[in-house]
Amino acid sequence: MQIVRSVSAMQRLGRAWQRAGASVGFVPTMGCLHAGHLSLVRRARQLVARGGKVVVSVYVNPTQFAPTEDFSRYPRDLARDAQLCREAGVDVIFAPHDSQMYPRGKGADFSTFVAEESLSRGMEGKSRPTHFRGVTTVVAKLFNIVQPELAVFGAKDYQQAALIKRMVRDLNFPLKIVVVPIFREADGLALSSRNQYLAGDLRAQALVLWRALQKAQAAVHKTARPLPAARLKSELKRLIECAPAARLDYVEFFDPATLAPVPKVTRGTHMALAVFIGQTRLIDNARL
Ligand code: PAJ
Repeated sequence: MQIVRSVSAMQRLGRAWQRAGASVGFVPTMGCLHAGHLSLVRRARQLVARGGKVVVSVYVNPTQFAPTEDFSRYPRDLARDAQLCREAGVDVIFAPHDSQMYPRGKGADFSTFVAEESLSRGMEGKSRPTHFRGVTTVVAKLFNIVQPELAVFGAKDYQQAALIKRMVRDLNFPLKIVVVPIFREADGLALSSRNQYLAGDLRAQALVLWRALQKAQAAVHKTARPLPAARLKSELKRLIECAPAARLDYVEFFDPATLAPVPKVTRGTHMALAVFIGQTRLIDNARL
């Protein structure tokens, strides 16, 4: 397995593979890899034909963090990530420095951004107004650098995956987006690099996200009648905030294709939520 640090070296490699007819599967990450990321890597490995290549990017992208967020303390451990990728049969880790991705100085500061202007408005986009512009920009850059045939994203970040699919369609990126289901701990907590922040009993309190999803599932499956979203939201807020360190940021019910909020919740409605557990902001979602 190779670790590539420079944009030009990665682009050369991508082009050489293309010329040789090897299909390339790509998994973009911010590192601190866990079993959820590795399930994306496994899917990429399955999908590229024999002789195909799998690239994982490990890059904590500064433009998707607001100044108040956890960019500087986001967990980083490239040696451990490299070991996990080696064991998972990854061919290349692309781990660029900020100076490679966002050049600065001599009047040539980075100044071009990619912004999706519809699906990005609600939920994460509302709570974190500059977040998705950073995500679509860095993912567009990564696609141009790695030049994959397919890229794998997790349903853990449901809105992000929807946005990336839209960007690929709107801007004609010549690749396929594959979305892999959420990987959970045995007790239901969705794996996340940020779970590392959950010290002491915060880990147990973080289960309120899973409990809220379960409660909504049960409510929807108990009756064939549509449920008013507003009422369900306030019930779930009460449930979540029973945990002393939990504060609901949002819970939303929406159409899974358009992400448009729905006033009535039925089977097939999608639910997403963001909850602060102490200082740590966690997200989760499910199809009801
Ligand atoms: P990161 O949070 O590291 O996640 C990388 C990919 O792993 C994303 O597609 C995410 O949805 C997926 N993932 C994370 N936890 C998962 C879980 N428990 N089950 C399934 N998939 C999971 O998302 C990002 O990084 C960044 O925004 C990025 C796309 C790399 C752009 O910087």
